[in-house]
Amino acid sequence: MTRVFSGIQPTGEPHIGNYFGAMRNYVRLGEQHGENAIYCIVDLHAPTNPHAYDPATLSRLTFDMALANMAVGLDPGKVIFFVQSQVREHSELGWIFTLTTPVGELERMTQYKDKASRLESTPAGLLMYPVLQAADILLYKADTVPVGEDQVQHIELTREIARRFNHSYGDTFPEPKAVLEQGALRVPGVDGHGKMGKSKGESSTIGLLESVGSIWAKLRPAPTDPARVRRTDPGNPEICLVGDYHRLFSDDQTVLEIWDGCRTAGIGCIDCKKRLMVGIERELTPIQARAEALRATPDAVLGGLHHGAERARTIAAPVMDEVRSKMGFLGASAGR
Ligand code: TYM
Repeated sequence: MTRVFSGIQPTGEPHIGNYFGAMRNYVRLGEQHGENAIYCIVDLHAPTNPHAYDPATLSRLTFDMALANMAVGLDPGKVIFFVQSQVREHSELGWIFTLTTPVGELERMTQYKDKASRLESTPAGLLMYPVLQAADILLYKADTVPVGEDQVQHIELTREIARRFNHSYGDTFPEPKAVLEQGALRVPGVDGHGKMGKSKGESSTIGLLESVGSIWAKLRPAPTDPARVRRTDPGNPEICLVGDYHRLFSDDQTVLEIWDGCRTAGIGCIDCKKRLMVGIERELTPIQARAEALRATPDAVLGGLHHGAERARTIAAPVMDEVRSKMGFLGASAGR
């Protein structure tokens, strides 16, 4: 039996990197595996980001992230979809894994190094973040984890953590595998500076619920192949972020035409971007319409999440009992 788990931070509105890199896979795997597909908004992870310290902001961003996932097709009646802090076992298993995870391994995590280097004082939670992530996954004994490329190192650490626990206490956890969306491993930022990411600010991201006008304002000045100085200079769509986006949003015929037009200078960069906008509108308009409808029924969103947390607890509680009992905590086999 396959069990899928993935988590997403409550950053409010997801960007198209989240969407193509992960969220579409959540929906696809959810359709295949029903209640064995478990998705979580990881709000306990979020306060390691300065923007989420404010309590009102955290709950708004959590709600908005839930709404956006439902708008792309995640159905809380079919999969298990919930908010991490509503299932206490995540924190408990996270703590247990900190007991045996070497600090040196955590200090080697690329995301930690990147984030910590930008902070004056590093919260311990930022270092421990991947341990809680391992607990998120292993609490459900999940073996399949749909993520973008930036999470692969954390999934490898999760495998290590599972191996270490199994070695000490007997076979308990599977060693989960990352599932990557091949065409969208690392969606680039619209500002042309590396991966699209919220932590780099709004200028890097195209929001899933962003208006067409606002997307165009970012796309129009976006850098293209630097070889195309003049309109008549041929370019290489393989090294152009607009080419990358065409592959995500445009149909095969359009991609062929764009590739040919760019290489022969038959199409200019602005026209290429206008063609891209057609694909963007086609993809995002129905999602935005569903998001608007869901916003009018907030109780349905919250109800779906509460139902998801109840379902998640029924899986998490016995796994936690098993862990306590295997580790020898007094009275553990009596449950709680
Ligand atoms: P987060 O919230 O940063 O991102 C959510 C998902 O989106 C993917 N992603 C991208 N994919 C392609 N291109 C991009 N530019 C891009 N930006 C983001 C991420 O890889 C991720 O899959 N640590 C996780 C959350 C987490 C988690 C978990 C994931 C917590 N516990 C357990 C899986 C399993 C994170 O910060 O994702």
